[in-house]
Amino acid sequence: MPEPTQSWNALRSFMASTCGVALADDQSYLMEARLSPVAKTLNYRSVDEYVLEAVRPGAPTRVTAPLIDAMTTHETYWFRDAPFWKALQDQVIPRLGLTEPGSNRNFTIWLAACSTGQEVYSLTMFLEENFPPLHQRTTIIATDVSEAAVQQAKAGVYTVFEANRGLSAPRLVKHFERAGANFKVKEHLRRKVTFVTHNLVTQAPPGIGFDLVLMRNVLIYFPEATRRAVVQRAMGVMKPNGLLGIGATELLTLPSLSPGWYPKSA
Ligand SMILES: C[S@@+](CC[C@H](N)C(=O)[O-])C[C@H]1O[C@@H](n2cnc3c(N)ncnc32)[C@H](O)[C@@H]1O
Repeated sequence: MPEPTQSWNALRSFMASTCGVALADDQSYLMEARLSPVAKTLNYRSVDEYVLEAVRPGAPTRVTAPLIDAMTTHETYWFRDAPFWKALQDQVIPRLGLTEPGSNRNFTIWLAACSTGQEVYSLTMFLEENFPPLHQRTTIIATDVSEAAVQQAKAGVYTVFEANRGLSAPRLVKHFERAGANFKVKEHLRRKVTFVTHNLVTQAPPGIGFDLVLMRNVLIYFPEATRRAVVQRAMGVMKPNGLLGIGATELLTLPSLSPGWYPKSA
């Protein structure tokens, strides 16, 4: 039977090298708490045995993907952080010059670390409600390292509990249909978004020429050097007047437009 410390150390270096996620010394309880149901489902005798198998070089995706799904934190909710949406409306979109009369340029957005989709569907609702002609010309690619999160986001189906976290009743009525006991985002909003499983740390950005890149509440999990590299790569695929949106508490040492919003810098 492997030593628990051996599997904990192996898990930490795997999460750091594959996802950039730094697990702290005092977080070892997460291994048992999050991976024990996964190990059981995949028929391993213990969490330690599962971890050592999953972190093995060349381990198949059906073994590694559930570990990454379980060890990443997917906390998210609708219209998270009101000042972000206010700045988007009052400062960011006007600055992009896409809403001027006669403008027919497309609006292209990369929303990274989309988790289970609440943020990206908030964005499509926001655009449809506030900038209808621009919404028509918008394309969004939404990405996350967690395959399970991306699958739920793509399906656009939410429990009553999930729907209640930040959605007003009028928005629920307007933008969702019933799916049994759950709520499903209407098809015309789902159609706006292409979902892709993508790792911010180990993969190149999924496109170029973005007006906006959003990567909110993910940089906090990365060490400083990784954070800097990820931000630099994102800036590199933005249009010259593009903007990067990150969580309001994830400060960068760059000039900002308003908390969490950064114009492209060289
Ligand atoms: C706390 S959630 C944030 C969700 C959403 N952006 C929000 O602000 O509500 C963080 C997400 O980052 C994803 N993540 C963690 N490491 C990643 C990586 N290396 N590449 C891409 N996504 C990653 C996780 O899977 C998780 O869904």
